[in-house]
Amino acid sequence: MGWVTSKLLVSRACCVENQVNGHRFSIEEFARDVRAGLAKTGQKELYSKYFYDDLGTALFEAITLLPEYGLTRADLRLLRAHAGRLSPESGRISIVAELGSGSGEKARCILPYLTGPDGLIYCPIDISPAALTRCERDVSDIPHLRVMPFENSYVEGLAAAARLRKPGSSMLVLFLGSSLGNFEPDAAAKFLREIRGMVMPADWVLLSTDLVKPVDRMLAAYQDELGLTAVFNLNLLARINRELGANFNLNHFEHEARYCDSEQRIEMHLRATVDQTVSIGQDLTVQLNAGETIWTESSYKFHPQQVAALAGKAGFVCEAQWIDAEWPFAQSLLRAVGN
Ligand code: AVI
Repeated sequence: MGWVTSKLLVSRACCVENQVNGHRFSIEEFARDVRAGLAKTGQKELYSKYFYDDLGTALFEAITLLPEYGLTRADLRLLRAHAGRLSPESGRISIVAELGSGSGEKARCILPYLTGPDGLIYCPIDISPAALTRCERDVSDIPHLRVMPFENSYVEGLAAAARLRKPGSSMLVLFLGSSLGNFEPDAAAKFLREIRGMVMPADWVLLSTDLVKPVDRMLAAYQDELGLTAVFNLNLLARINRELGANFNLNHFEHEARYCDSEQRIEMHLRATVDQTVSIGQDLTVQLNAGETIWTESSYKFHPQQVAALAGKAGFVCEAQWIDAEWPFAQSLLRAVGN
């Protein structure tokens, strides 16, 4: 039986909160972002971070099971194939911190290789208490493991996890699922630098990124036959209706995925199919012309060497990189260097 703490290490603000690429937000901030994004005169946009209410999270979990969406299966295959090699390559690890843990499915592939009689602390970091509870349960049978969940933003949770480090030991940070691809390039670079600022030389990061592949395969992953991704995308408008009192007619929009070659990204849009006027609460009216789109997500794809270069600029060295044979997708093992 593993060694499990049941108490969540929580530092939470009050009011309505939600998950946003590891950041909290209030309903006021949500309303502000929606207004700003829809009031734009050029390309209207909404942030993808607002996809993940309870329904959106469930829809995303279903997407990961779609035959066309190869990312999650590739991540798991790589973990199963290479987790055993992490320990000798990465020295004495006393803490594993996972950013956006979701369930414990991925961590389960790694943790048994890193535990030993000296014990290991696993810190899943997630805004969702439900995800943390599930994650704790999923790893509860791993021997010599102490689980210390942080219901917190990535940055705050990681800073707290780093304080648990035993002197002379190192920490491994897991950032899986290719979530980095949903950051704009500047934000991705900044986030990696922030992580570097919180770890010490000789600490490790295992980073997953989806890779550039033939356009039809990339597009199919975001324009699936069953229409799940379309529902996931449309749920953003439904959420704005539910939470901000808007009156979007979902029948007047269609889901669209495109690949932008020069930026190496899949873009998701919602295209208005008729001219329409939408009210957002009491004080905003938005005019949309038939054919006009609202840009809802970017999902950047990488070449393996771009990941290594990005990591290098943030103060890491890429010590190993594993690529899935079925679905081009990379896991990069990064070691923090210098200061
Ligand atoms: C969470 N993230 C890595 C997913 C992706 O592939 O960019 C979100 C997603 N959007 C549509 N399908 C999945």
